[in-house]
Parts: sequence; C-alpha cells; structure tokens
Amino acid sequence: MSKIVDIHTHVYPPAYVELLKSRTTVPYIRVFPPSPTARLIILPGEDDASTPSTSRGRPLGAEYFDISLKISFMDTHGIGISVISLANPWLDFLPPSEAAEAAAAINDDIDAMCNSYPGRLYAFATLPVSAGQEACVAEVRRLAGMRWVRGVVLGTGGMGSGMDDPRLDDVYTALGEMDLPVFLHPHYGLPAEAYGPRADEYGHVLPLAMGFPMETTISVARMLLSSVFDRHTQLTLLLAHSGGTLPFLAGRLESCILHDAHLQGTGKLRNRRDVWDVLKTNILLDAVVYSALGLRAAAEASGADRVLFGTDHPFFPPLTNEDEEDGGGEPQWLSVTTNYAAIDAAFAGDKAKSAAVLGGNAVRLLKLA
Ligand code: URA
Ligand code: ZN
Repeated sequence: MSKIVDIHTHVYPPAYVELLKSRTTVPYIRVFPPSPTARLIILPGEDDASTPSTSRGRPLGAEYFDISLKISFMDTHGIGISVISLANPWLDFLPPSEAAEAAAAINDDIDAMCNSYPGRLYAFATLPVSAGQEACVAEVRRLAGMRWVRGVVLGTGGMGSGMDDPRLDDVYTALGEMDLPVFLHPHYGLPAEAYGPRADEYGHVLPLAMGFPMETTISVARMLLSSVFDRHTQLTLLLAHSGGTLPFLAGRLESCILHDAHLQGTGKLRNRRDVWDVLKTNILLDAVVYSALGLRAAAEASGADRVLFGTDHPFFPPLTNEDEEDGGGEPQWLSVTTNYAAIDAAFAGDKAKSAAVLGGNAVRLLKLA
C-alpha cells in the first residue's frame, strides 16, 4: 500500500512558543490562574475579556511544539509522511527589523526537526513578510539549501496588503523559478461584525467554519482579479481547506468577471486565463473539508490528481480531557477519521484516486522521496 502523506499539519517550534510567551497582545501564550495550563491566544477575536479565561483561545498542549508527539500522532493514524508548517499567525505580526532573523531561525529549526526523523517529515518554510520583498526573496533563495523544505506557508495577509499586492511579484517569481509552492492558509477570518452580536456564545465555530474558508476564497479571487496567475504561470498555490469555497464559487466568480463593465473597461484582463484554467494548472487543494461532497467539488474543480490529504493537526483534537495531558494511548482523532471517511466515500470504488489523494499526489507534486 502506498504511503499516506499529511500536507496540512502544523508546529510551533520552541523558539516561537517562547516568542509568544513574551507577548501580551494577540498572538500570545499565557497562564490564567488558578488553572496551570498555558493557553494559546492567536485569533483576532480571542482576546475578548468577556470570554472566560478557561475558554479563551485553546490549551497549549505539548503536541503544538513537541515533534515526537507529531510522530506519535502520525503512527496512530497511519500517516507515513508529514509536511509540517508553522501555524498561524506565522511571523505576520513581527516588527520588520526582527522578521528576517526570526524567519531564518524558524526555518532552520523546522529543517532540523525534519532531519531528526529522516524521510518522515518535510516542511513548508516561513517568510519574513513584514520585512518586505527583498528579505522574502533572500529567504526563498536560502531555502534551496534546505534538504526537507518543499514550499512556503503564507497567510492571506501576504506582506500586509493581501496576496494581490504587487510587492509580492518578485517573491512569486522566485518561488515559481524554484518550483516551491505556496501553502496559502487563512488566519484573519471576516470582520467581527459578520459574526453578529451573539458571536461570543458560539465559541470558535463561525470564525473557523465560515470565516477561514471565506478569507481564503476572497484572497485567491483577488489574485485572479489582479492577474497574478497571468504574470506568474509557474506559480503553484496549495489552498487550505479545499480552497475555502472556491470550487463551489468559481463559476459565479467567472460570471461576475465577464459581466463587470468596469473591470472589462480597464482592459487589464484582456489576456486573462479563466478561473477554471488556473484551478487546473496553478492550484492544488488540500482534502481538509470533512465531507465527500466537498471533496468531489475539489476534485472536479482542480482534478483528483491535485487534491492532497491533510489533518490540520494539532488543531481540532478530541475534546475529552482537553485541559489535561493525555495519559493513555492516543485515541484516533475524529477530525482525521472524518477526512479518511470522506475520501473513501468520495472516491468509492476508485482505489487509484483514493491512493492518489491520500499520498500519491503529494509524493509526486512535492517530490517527496
Ligand atoms: N485554528 C487555527 O487557528 N489554525 C488552524 O490551522 C486550524 C484551526
Ligand atoms: Zn491549518
């Protein structure tokens, strides 16, 4: 049987954890006495003082930073290889003067983690986005010397103005030349008003289930509208959460483009490659969508040869004993088994397609040994 590969799986290296512990504004890590458990507060709406401290953010278990627990999780779920990435909000918040050094240190740490489990771990590296394009391009060039790096992870904020920012052009060129995909991941969600005045009653559900996917969708739509894929035909984007809602909304996006008098009047999109062409050429989709219906849409939009299994570990752990260290053997995570079941159901009877989504596509596209 071919290997299962998890391309959506995060880590906070110990140095990043220390950085968050030193902070008092989001993102930060803090203990709220009397509970001894440190909590990880990363999302924009999580710092609300009206939220009880016991449900603010999430408990910071060792699975966020201890790479041996990633390997145990992989073993528990039959995952042969993981392509690890720094989790949100990456280095988006750093002062420009600190970003280049921090990115280099984190990328070295993550490459060393991979090296400690040769062949089981690969990585998407981090870029010093706040430091600007020259610093990012310099870090991209440095990644060529890193044995386990297979791409970079970027938040939809890009360098602060989104992924349609012309200042990203040199970075896209460098990534395209080096055949390093961008793993595009959400963090900021939608403006708080979109979640309504009762949002604090609903935990993280609206930002994670609705905000994250819309954020990703809008980010890629902006790239399409600003001709990024026409200028950078070599650029590959791996979209988190099966592209948000892009497979479902691609037709509407295409139609709105064709019917927009202002946009058409600018002439900027005259030689435009359409949304469907980009989806099948430049875009890869992860399989972190938790339903056969969503997966079929992803496979139809980009091709079953461009959909890649992922878990989003260590987020979405089982809720039992969430404030305690896990004592016994690790249970199977519902968030993982749901995605396995979705792949089974979506490609029922087509073993070749299931195997491709579970690992074959990742091995081929990311050149894993
Ligand atoms: N929540 C996050 O903040 N990030 C993820 O990747 C998943 C859930
Ligand atoms: Zn994620």
